Amino acid sequence: MTEPKPRSEVENMTGYQAPLEGRRNFLRLDFNENTLGPSPKVVDALRKIPVNHIAIYPEYDGLREAVVANLQKINPGLQINSEQIGLFNGVDAAIHAIFHTYGDKGSQLLTTTPTFGYYTPCAHMQGMEVCAIPYEGENLSFPWEKIQATLTREHPKLLFICNPNNPTGTRVAANKLQTLAKAAPKTLVVVDELYEAFTGDSVLPTANFNTTPNLVILRSLAKTAGLAGLRIGFAIGNSKIIEFINRVTGPYDINSFAVTAAIAALEDQDYVDSYISEVLNAKEWITKQLVANGTRHHIDGGNYFLIWPEKEPSSIESSLRKNGILVRGMTGKPLIERSIRVSIGTTSQMKTFWQVFSTIENTSNHAVP
Ligand SMILES: Cc1ncc(COP(=O)(O)O)c(C=O)c1O
Repeated sequence: MTEPKPRSEVENMTGYQAPLEGRRNFLRLDFNENTLGPSPKVVDALRKIPVNHIAIYPEYDGLREAVVANLQKINPGLQINSEQIGLFNGVDAAIHAIFHTYGDKGSQLLTTTPTFGYYTPCAHMQGMEVCAIPYEGENLSFPWEKIQATLTREHPKLLFICNPNNPTGTRVAANKLQTLAKAAPKTLVVVDELYEAFTGDSVLPTANFNTTPNLVILRSLAKTAGLAGLRIGFAIGNSKIIEFINRVTGPYDINSFAVTAAIAALEDQDYVDSYISEVLNAKEWITKQLVANGTRHHIDGGNYFLIWPEKEPSSIESSLRKNGILVRGMTGKPLIERSIRVSIGTTSQMKTFWQVFSTIENTSNHAVP
């Protein structure tokens, strides 16, 4: 018996691959999540959810408004309204929906490489072609001229820029992104800003979704607010574009727990701010160690950095795991082959990482220290 065949695009694609299971009891420096968890006010709000909120379908009233209020608190004077906010079951779901909405078969996705690993499978499931321009030089700089030239020459359907980029941390100035979007009105320019809060690189404060309707910004509560497990993310853009993208989602894709947690998290920006400043202190601390020790590394935007260990990266990874620490090997990623990406948590977590990592690097057989 032969099973029913999927669409040929699905049959021929490789799905997003990440080690997803068995992470809970480790110091998780592998997915750039908030390493402390959400605000106690979020936990309290979740505990108080009445039983009938579980029995009935979710209601979304107030969540878009809470996103607007939060964005305006962070960016005083920001002109934005709730119709310009799309709600999704994590930014992954927003990315999937954008491809589903705009990804014509045979059209092109323009992006960079190496970058976040979910854009390419989404393009392939639509039957799109992927043009991925490599970051440039030792510093892994943004390939500005090549992106600009390809954009005006090829008119891709979608341009995805992760800013700051995961995993290289590469940052692009907001005015450059505006220039790209203005130069290509037929291309939907998606700026994935999951890590912008750590360096303030957002294109949002200067975005005008009426005059630049082809610009969409992605934000999530996974990395700073600590809600990765509840799955909640936002697309911000022209109201018509947001409405189109929402058409391809299910009516109740975001669950009630995520709604309650998101509203509580958005109201407690002080918690997020203090987590960010904790991470920035830890970043400064780990940078000093890397420099003092002469460890080859690359550290820029975001809550993560790359290191090139002297020993085989996969054995370093497994030795760290044996010591209770998860990191993410970058094997197979162009330009950063043999590196390991390490998420930045608190200074005390970085001290733990550094102590174990240095011992492993300096031990002849990777013995457990
Ligand atoms: C650049 C980037 N975009 C999107 C996502 C997915 O975010 P979410 O957890 O909101 O689905 C991630 C998660 O690692 C990411 O690094």
